[in-house]
Amino acid sequence: MTTLAILTAAGSGTRLGREIPKAFVPVGGVPMIALAARGLADSGAVDAVVVTSPPGRAADMVAALGALPIPVEVVDGGSTRQASVAAGLRRADASTDVVLVHDAARPLAPPALVARVVAAVRSGHPAVVPGLPVTDTIKRVAPDAGAPAPPGDDTTPVVERVVDTLDRTVLRAVQTPQGFDRELLQRAHAEGAARAAAEHLAATDDAGLVEALGVPVHLVRGDSAALKITTPYDLAVAELLLEGR
Ligand code: C5P
Repeated sequence: MTTLAILTAAGSGTRLGREIPKAFVPVGGVPMIALAARGLADSGAVDAVVVTSPPGRAADMVAALGALPIPVEVVDGGSTRQASVAAGLRRADASTDVVLVHDAARPLAPPALVARVVAAVRSGHPAVVPGLPVTDTIKRVAPDAGAPAPPGDDTTPVVERVVDTLDRTVLRAVQTPQGFDRELLQRAHAEGAARAAAEHLAATDDAGLVEALGVPVHLVRGDSAALKITTPYDLAVAELLLEGR
């Protein structure tokens, strides 16, 4: 009965505007990948970690990770996040019963959140995601409307048309780590991806692939500290959060 965490870190992070892959970017002086891995280890609920690295950067990844109290293996990631998770999943053998999928881009996910997800899977829920209520009003726009003006562009006129307003009381913003029964996640990656594509379902996370199989996904309370670092603004917020810890 072991829990393996796949920590995705093979992305380039171009939206952060740095020369180096995002996982190497420091928050509070520590590379995001090391913070994320420490959060997993400190939960006491994870037995081993597989990190997906930008291909050719495995040695740099090992150096950035530093020393950890649990075994860590670094593998080459793929060209998409889904391919990177699949590469990590190939390292899970029959001794692994629970798999977590976590993004290095969420380096401040608290250990208690990690433990909550694992506990929910172990209590009989084969697919579990952390989620938070949505506080903004969410509107759907016409799909053919074109891209919104890029951040900082205050001169482009309105380009999108609103179609409707969603009922936010039933919406949740979903985070990582997401937790799964190992065999279910393997089946989701083998079959769910094709089914999601065929049925035009959004499968932008691993739980989406499980949903495409028709298997129920359950939600536990997320944590605002598990914010995803995508832009320089997010990085500044994370720095402040870390200072306050
Ligand atoms: O780019 P984004 O922040 O959405 O990526 C989410 C996570 O997926 C990041 O931790 C990133 O390193 C990882 N990723 C990956 N392989 C890719 C693309 C993204 O492991 N090909």
